[in-house]
Amino acid sequence: MTNDNDSKLTTAPLGTGGPEVGVQGLGCMGMSIAYGPTDADEARATLERALELGVTLYDTADAYGEGENERFLSPFFNAHRDEVVIATKFALAMPSGVTGPRVIRNDPDYIRQAVEASLKNLGIDVIDLYYMHRRDVNVPIEETVGAMADLVRQGKVKQLGLSEVTGAELHAAQAVHPIAAVQSEWSLFSRDIEAGVVPAARELGVTLVPYSPLGRGFLTGSFTNADQELTEGDYRRTQPRFTGTNAAANAALLTPIRAVAESHGASVGQIALAWVQQQATVHNLPVIPIPGTRRRTRIEENAAATQIVLSEQDMALLEPIAAQVAGTRYPDMTFASAGRETP
Ligand SMILES: NC(=O)c1ccc[n+]([C@@H]2O[C@H](COP(=O)([O-])OP(=O)(O)OC[C@H]3O[C@@H](n4cnc5c(N)ncnc54)[C@H](OP(=O)(O)O)[C@@H]3O)[C@@H](O)[C@H]2O)c1
Repeated sequence: MTNDNDSKLTTAPLGTGGPEVGVQGLGCMGMSIAYGPTDADEARATLERALELGVTLYDTADAYGEGENERFLSPFFNAHRDEVVIATKFALAMPSGVTGPRVIRNDPDYIRQAVEASLKNLGIDVIDLYYMHRRDVNVPIEETVGAMADLVRQGKVKQLGLSEVTGAELHAAQAVHPIAAVQSEWSLFSRDIEAGVVPAARELGVTLVPYSPLGRGFLTGSFTNADQELTEGDYRRTQPRFTGTNAAANAALLTPIRAVAESHGASVGQIALAWVQQQATVHNLPVIPIPGTRRRTRIEENAAATQIVLSEQDMALLEPIAAQVAGTRYPDMTFASAGRETP
């Protein structure tokens, strides 16, 4: 299934009363880091093609290559400033003066530094949607969101978002300042957020922005045995689902997705994206998924998936997959909201 070249995505509001954005956004992380070598010219062409297709929410973070991804996107954003909604994030900091694992920083002093760095990297004077990327449980969320709200009052940020927070954390945050969006992993392989985050977002009118809706590429059918197929340095080599015996076991789980894809004349990845949309409808929740790609052909394929509607029978066929996935979505699940979610 390809996209009709002239048809644009429909739109939906980003958060209660927020701007209208195309119903699918674009994850830009892979243009700079994580998933193997990138062709910068093709990535730039992909950004332009995405906009033509009606994709208007663009997702980046300061941590995607220490500002490299924000700087890469800056010319595109500035060429189309009035047409794009720019989302970036803070919290995954490098320890100062030393190399080593990132530290999670949610304290107000850090937020004030981080926003200035992102504004400079992006070459803009206001960020449309500013997310806390990860939660530092040592800082009360009220304090963090309070500092983020100051940025709104100062005109540096328009809307606030949170990534990988629990349902309870979302409620506590919303009591301080309206939260437009929660960004969490949600896909046929990753459904842990349905316990706490999804009901909280629905209750509060917060838009869910599902990241890695293609399971970091797994749900496109690109891998038979990722453990042997991923190149040196690919971030997925650190991910339990892509490594060891889990890799081939998880590839075998795609059989029902292939069957549904065939019946719709669609690709496996398109069915994975259509599932996220349909599952959101089941939960009565506004969503703007942000699949990531660096290629024009794939942005066309992914955008076209918004036109696919899965039936109850399709959904029933796909229902058992998540429970069978081998391996957690991060090596340490305290990095995700599910590691802190209380039943
Ligand atoms: N908040 C967070 O903690 C967090 C974590 C991870 C990601 N994110 C955000 O979410 C975005 C999306 O997530 P993601 O990039 O991790 O995972 P994803 O969207 O599930 O998958 C991206 C992978 O799928 C491949 N792909 C995309 N479309 C394809 C198609 N039609 N056919 C075959 N392969 C296809 C991409 O390769 P090509 O690029 O080569 O097409 C890339 O390797 C990121 O870019 C980032 O902005 C946020």
